[in-house]
Amino acid sequence: MNLFTPIADFGNYLFFCLLVGYVVLQFVPQSKKPTIQFPKSLLLICTLGIIIFTFVPVLVLIRFFDDTAGFAQAAASVILTTQVGQGWLFITVFAIFLWLTFYLERSKYIQGFWIVLMMIAIGYSSHVSSQSFVVGIFSHTTHFLMVTIWVGVLFHVSWFSRDKQHWSEFLQWFTPLAIVCIINIFASGFVIMFTIEKPAEYLDGWATPYGRMLLLKHISIIPIILFAVINGILSRKASTFSDYEPRKWLKSESLILLLVFYFTAVLGTLSPPYEMPPAAQTVETPTWVEWLFAKDILLPIEVDIAPTFLTVLLISVALLFLLLIIISYKKMSPVFATLFGGCFILTLYLGLIFSCALYPVI
Ligand code: HEM
Repeated sequence: MNLFTPIADFGNYLFFCLLVGYVVLQFVPQSKKPTIQFPKSLLLICTLGIIIFTFVPVLVLIRFFDDTAGFAQAAASVILTTQVGQGWLFITVFAIFLWLTFYLERSKYIQGFWIVLMMIAIGYSSHVSSQSFVVGIFSHTTHFLMVTIWVGVLFHVSWFSRDKQHWSEFLQWFTPLAIVCIINIFASGFVIMFTIEKPAEYLDGWATPYGRMLLLKHISIIPIILFAVINGILSRKASTFSDYEPRKWLKSESLILLLVFYFTAVLGTLSPPYEMPPAAQTVETPTWVEWLFAKDILLPIEVDIAPTFLTVLLISVALLFLLLIIISYKKMSPVFATLFGGCFILTLYLGLIFSCALYPVI
């Protein structure tokens, strides 16, 4: 698996969130948000960064073909004839217009217009749109847009705010916005997922690298929902106390979100089940890391859940870590909550994967 593409995709998600968060917050009056300072230079860097990061998967494809066709010919055919290449061309054109719009400080509506076009271009080159074009582009663009609106505002307020003024006014619009975004993220996420694999294949998918990374992503969303409840609802009362610092808890939530971004970035580089050829017989025993991420597992496989004492213990420990996040909200620093979130993800993933009994389908 090439290491650069997930890192580039991860950077992409971050840059898109910062740009969308910046545009959304322009629509919010100063009396309803903390003082946020986001340098214009960073806006321009994020926009150019997206052109560079979205080019990485294109370059990987060009390198794949340049042995046979030569670099120039491979580059021309990949950029002009593949969905990933064409998507990058669209993104580059729209990003240049966006860069000019930011540089000349034009209206927030025009900024929003170019960003949405760039997201449609990302949806155009996604896995799901190669499976079902219209449903794919629509569900992927909705998914990505909702993620960047919610997480974009969260990143700006947690990492670029200078104070915690107007916090309760901020929560009054941000909590409902986050709820609407999360509902749409789940709805579009299920549409993407069930366009890529049938619901009945979800469990058998745990025998493939794609299915296991999707499971890891789903598990990592659970602590995020808990943090969202803490930051959006439980902290309302606490935010009246002068010594309560709500931005620290938003930072914790944003760190776990970065984990979801990384798992999603890796997911985007793995072959979905419909692309997986029946694997040849494996000869050597996979290492535990390869086993953990289902590398080279013999396909087709049927997966059954066969819990053991160890896996039930692991899952119970995972639930304990979730409980500890709530307890730490009352009594400890958010650093512990972030760690408990990470431990929850790891122990639940191990508990579920060790509960898997794999049966080759003859
Ligand atoms: C906190 C919640 C979530 C976040 C932050 C998130 C983030 C993302 C992002 C950024 C992408 C775009 C990937 C790309 O095009 O490179 C994506 C794709 C995807 N998401 Fe989510 N997502 C979330 C929840 C969900 C849920 C609940 C599901 C399923 C039920 C889901 C399923 C998917 C799938 C299947 C893809 C396509 C991956 C691929 O094959 O490239 N996501 N998600």
